[in-house]
Amino acid sequence: VTAEKAGFEHFMLKEIHEQPKAYRDTMTSRISSEGDRVTLQEIGMTPDEIRAINRIHIVACGTAYHAGLVGKYVIEKLARISVETDVASEYRYRSPIITKETLVIVVSQSGETADTLAALREAKRCGARVLAITNVVGSSVAREADDVITTWAGLEIAVASTKAYTSQLIAFYLLGLHLAQTLDTQTPAYIAEVITALKELPAQVERVLEQADQIKEFADEISTHNDLFFIGRGLDYAVALEGSLKLKEISYIHSEAYAAGELKHGTLALIQEGIPVIALGTQHELMEKTISNIKEVKARGAHVLGIGVEGEDELQKAVDTIFNIPRTLDLLAPALSVISLQLLSYYASLARGNDVDKPRNLAKSVTVE
Ligand code: G6P
Repeated sequence: VTAEKAGFEHFMLKEIHEQPKAYRDTMTSRISSEGDRVTLQEIGMTPDEIRAINRIHIVACGTAYHAGLVGKYVIEKLARISVETDVASEYRYRSPIITKETLVIVVSQSGETADTLAALREAKRCGARVLAITNVVGSSVAREADDVITTWAGLEIAVASTKAYTSQLIAFYLLGLHLAQTLDTQTPAYIAEVITALKELPAQVERVLEQADQIKEFADEISTHNDLFFIGRGLDYAVALEGSLKLKEISYIHSEAYAAGELKHGTLALIQEGIPVIALGTQHELMEKTISNIKEVKARGAHVLGIGVEGEDELQKAVDTIFNIPRTLDLLAPALSVISLQLLSYYASLARGNDVDKPRNLAKSVTVE
């Protein structure tokens, strides 16, 4: 068994460490050798068909849904098409407005999730084109979709998804760039800049992993708490949701992810002396606003761990403890910041003596609706 885990104590930790490879495998063959263009040969849509798309729906469950929240931001920013992200079990029943000009993107690690598959079928019935992002070649979702972007994360065994989620992020970056190239919504120079930064991610993930000890210390501290908060704005909010889910799934510590600016509209009432708050501050344009939200929770006694970016000292000054990710484009920060939150959940679960790879009541793949 240890051999299967390649010397790691748990599959989850092994899979966390496999992310640099998963990033490379998912992006390399899809980037031109000159590093200036993305080629998604698996997308059969012609340029005219892409130009005809007037809205995109991203539909998924669980962690894949959280990847879709990042996907919304990435596609809207790069391709300027309006995107909605929905959980599959809600999407089907709310009479979504789906036409031939709608592109529906279903995201599923396993490609077998019943709710996601049902949403895919509903989308096709309404005449939409369906693009799947999945980790399993030949899965039901892959077979039934019109186009498939395979994430090359490799087999994921731990119930809590790590490398599948981050490979889905890479797929969304590539897709966003592919759409932007076709629609001419970004300059070739900017596209090349994003591609250069994408290629740096695997080595940067290694650097985050090398600092796991820092995260472990904070994880040990939060493991004695029963409630905590994650806050962030923009892409940091999407990552906060995933960080909170991961922590709940395997450590059983209750947490809530909040859009930092929304705190004062309610949740601030729950901030008391000593409560841990994990504040993501990787988005430059939103930094000042995020810091003012951090001050709101600190004033009420919260103990704040900031997840920031190397070389930025503003956030550091505002928090109690800081963990910095390597410098990258704001757009790509989720692919680094989430690694620290995966480690946080892992070590918190370990400190609580839980079965990290097989959390109670959860299944890796849910094939019932
Ligand atoms: C289950 C798993 C989650 C996963 C979700 C969607 O609930 O426990 O970790 O995110 O299914 O799975 P999928 O295979 O469709 O990505």
